[in-house]
Amino acid sequence: MERITSPELAQAFIDEQIAAVRNQVGDKKVLLALSGGVDSSVVAALLIKAIGDQLVCVHVNHGLLRKGEPEQVVRVFKEELGANLIYVDAVDRFLSKLAGVADPETKRKIIGKEFIDVFAEEASKLEGIKFLGQGTIYPDILESKDGIKAHHNVGGLPEGLDFELVEPIKLLYKDEVRVVGKALGLPDNMVYRQPFPGPGLGVRCTGAITRDRLEAVREADAIFREEIDKMDPTPWQYFVAIPDVKSTGIKDGKRYMGWAAVIRAVQTKDAVTAKSVEIPWATLCTIRDRIIAEVPGINRVLWDFSDKPVATIEWE
Ligand code: XMP
Repeated sequence: MERITSPELAQAFIDEQIAAVRNQVGDKKVLLALSGGVDSSVVAALLIKAIGDQLVCVHVNHGLLRKGEPEQVVRVFKEELGANLIYVDAVDRFLSKLAGVADPETKRKIIGKEFIDVFAEEASKLEGIKFLGQGTIYPDILESKDGIKAHHNVGGLPEGLDFELVEPIKLLYKDEVRVVGKALGLPDNMVYRQPFPGPGLGVRCTGAITRDRLEAVREADAIFREEIDKMDPTPWQYFVAIPDVKSTGIKDGKRYMGWAAVIRAVQTKDAVTAKSVEIPWATLCTIRDRIIAEVPGINRVLWDFSDKPVATIEWE
């Protein structure tokens, strides 16, 4: 297959897939878990074009998404593209299951299982669903064949559900998915966004997640990304983590125990190894000043400029 590198090739691919999906699905309904990530967003936009409201999208807000993401999913898909979208506010449910749980792999398992449960519950409320849409892409197929990415499938989908799969982008590489997403009219910040782990901010609020520290991660991360987005080119992945540690500070003449926001920006090809990206001093100072001034509970900003290996990209 010719690599999709231009709007024309993307359009030809879209036309071809619209016909293939219509042929596969007929007049039946398709269910799709729409996280707002590049792959599921592109599949949603493509399926809306192909089968309109025979597509039912479910967006599960587990409380671990980045600032503004759930709102953007609703705005783009429901309001702009007219999708048949079910928005599930599962924030309390996830956070209560995670309360007091400090072990990273247990946190991942809880998030993964809870996601499947919520999705399956929504699916069971619907009638006439025959198909499940999935944003599988070619590297997913290659990596699961080699057993590389088992733990990265958190946020992936229920296996036990008895649906036939609709996977229109399964032969595409990520760069091709982006070209197709652009041709479908999705906004740049959806099409070109950086990778984001399935367990979301949960692995960046290390140890046992608390609502106040989670909010601090979300706010500090939004500020950091806003400032790093001004760099050209932007790094491959950049985010904030807040370890579960407090240190002494001083504010308004009083002791102010606070968390440290850890900033991290890396460059990599495949996430197997990664190099820290140089951030100019002036940018660092702006980031430090903004995070400390704007995010309650933070009294220090630390720069994690460790390479992988030995440090992994995420903190958990
Ligand atoms: P690490 O931390 O292993 O991360 O160096 C490599 C890449 O994988 C992402 N990552 C995850 N993605 N579920 C995901 O979907 C996960 O549990 C997970 N853990 C790490 C990470 O953001 C980086 O891009």
